[in-house]
Amino acid sequence: MGVKALGYVIVETEKPAEWDDFMTKVVGVMRGENAPAGSAFYRVDDRPFRFWIREGSRDYFIAAAYEVGSAEELAALRGKVEAAGRPVEDGTAEEAVQRGVAAFFRTSDPDGNGLEFFHGDTRDDVEFVSPAGVSGFITGDMGMGHAVFCAPNFTATHDFYKDVVGFGDTDFPRFHFTDDPNDPGMGFAFMHADNGRHHSIALAEMPIPPSGCVHLMLEMKTMADVGKCNDRMKAAGIPESATLGRHVNDRTFGFYMQTPTGFDMEIGYDPLVIDWQNWETTAHTQPSEWGHEWAWQKALAEAG
Ligand SMILES: [Fe+2]
Repeated sequence: MGVKALGYVIVETEKPAEWDDFMTKVVGVMRGENAPAGSAFYRVDDRPFRFWIREGSRDYFIAAAYEVGSAEELAALRGKVEAAGRPVEDGTAEEAVQRGVAAFFRTSDPDGNGLEFFHGDTRDDVEFVSPAGVSGFITGDMGMGHAVFCAPNFTATHDFYKDVVGFGDTDFPRFHFTDDPNDPGMGFAFMHADNGRHHSIALAEMPIPPSGCVHLMLEMKTMADVGKCNDRMKAAGIPESATLGRHVNDRTFGFYMQTPTGFDMEIGYDPLVIDWQNWETTAHTQPSEWGHEWAWQKALAEAG
């Protein structure tokens, strides 16, 4: 009776051609059919699209869209979100068709991060063929991956996702990115939906960035897929935001690179898949077991 998974995302950009190259040539996902005028669909599996990239007057993350199980659950969630004081706007029938869903509504969390909730998803029989030779992406019941937002009003926004939306706490850490013993660390909340993915959404206690998002994660099927994607990133001159490494909390192996809109794309492999019956919320102090040297850490090291 909670959220099933992350279904799709919507991004506005002034750089649709850069996004197209990034998606097809670097990430290795496939263009989808029938996107509305002035926009493009990209698919990673048998859903007609997972990314809806719209040409506009700014570069900004518009919404992460999460699926619930039925019309009744969507109506119940809509009521809870409205009762929590968040603005709610019902999608029209035409907008639902564009998204390949039965019905949806738009809202945002207390920090203004854009959300859509929907039920009645679509799959088709178009075979996913990566234009860059990626063997495939892990989606299915676990959804397309995860989204990470900034939450300067950390407690209120975490409470919204937990008490109103119904995500569960997987890992509730403070991460220390420096060796300074007085560094208070940064609060994070990694939250799961009703699937085995360690987190379908995460929150970072920091100001909203200009792009409106911290990162999105896609999961590839093999380590070689991730390594080859890292090679394509370098060959294309795409900024690497964090080098190859492995996370402590969800055990994901992978790296981060910058999308044309400015937030990051995490390309991962081999994450934990969790049975929630036997899970107690963790609180790690470090994000990474090894690797993941962040671009800002590299810049500091080179400067100092
Ligand atoms: Fe991530």
